[in-house]
Amino acid sequence: MDLHQKITELKKKKNAVILAHYYQVPEIQEVADYVGDSLGLSQKAAETDAEIIVFAGVHFMAETAKILNPTKKVLLPDLMAGCSLADSCPADAFQKLVEAHPDHTVITYVNCSAEVKALSDIICTSSNAEKIVNSVPKDVPIIFAPDKNLGKYIQKKTGRKMLLWDGACIVHEAFSMDKLLKLYKENPGSKIIAHPESESHILETATYVGSTAGMIDYVKKHPTEKFIVATEAGILHKMQQEVPEADLIPAPSEEDNTCACSECAFMKMNTLQKLYDCLLNETPQIEVSEEIRKKAILPIERMLELSK
Ligand code: 13P
Ligand code: SF4
Repeated sequence: MDLHQKITELKKKKNAVILAHYYQVPEIQEVADYVGDSLGLSQKAAETDAEIIVFAGVHFMAETAKILNPTKKVLLPDLMAGCSLADSCPADAFQKLVEAHPDHTVITYVNCSAEVKALSDIICTSSNAEKIVNSVPKDVPIIFAPDKNLGKYIQKKTGRKMLLWDGACIVHEAFSMDKLLKLYKENPGSKIIAHPESESHILETATYVGSTAGMIDYVKKHPTEKFIVATEAGILHKMQQEVPEADLIPAPSEEDNTCACSECAFMKMNTLQKLYDCLLNETPQIEVSEEIRKKAILPIERMLELSK
């Protein structure tokens, strides 16, 4: 039996569900029960009746699933799979900012720790950030953390002035404008689509800006066109599967000289072997203290309610 078969049998036997992000390696996406963006994954985690959730993604995603499912086992194939954006916002420093602005509503991007969620009023993802910001009355000031690029983009879209945390994603900040423009010239008629964690000069070149799920939907609507895709290269697997006729080119990053793609080293820490081992041994497990969980679940539930 190969690993894929072994995982499929084991998950049935153990009543486990495998949730995977679009940035996971193709073989993990193929064995998953659901592949999606951060919002879709938290919605699935909220509604699953499986006893074990194997989260093929990064730590904050699995932690969100645990916050929503305190009695279930939530497993992450590699506990070191973190996120540079989540790391850019330590809870103690964030607490100081929140306490200094008691009149502000705190909207926090899901890419953050449980402790930071516990200090927040509403969580958002890249699919619903605009809607969440617009749900706050116009006269109420907003703190937006931790992604300054998404924050700047949403400020522009909503016309709201927000106090932005100075965080960023190493993968999305690595796209090279010069190389992107060169690639665009070499591919006349192509469309640039980008994730809002990218810097504003990249977003300004894009015909579509949205979450990973949004980008896939956009390509589905224009199935025969050519796209330069400015997000983590793992998305190309699902995108191409969904839209086989589309011509997809990964956007080049500053340091790529051998390949034209950007990869998230954290997302790529998970492998099919590690996924099998973690399901077999039911470790490593995600734990969140009850004190933090009780606070962190409130802004997540607010987001899920506003996203219906
Ligand atoms: P999405 O919610 O768009 O899938 O983004 C998650 C992420 O980590 C992007 O880097
Ligand atoms: Fe975090 Fe960036 Fe990786 Fe997404 S791509 S998980 S934001 S480091």
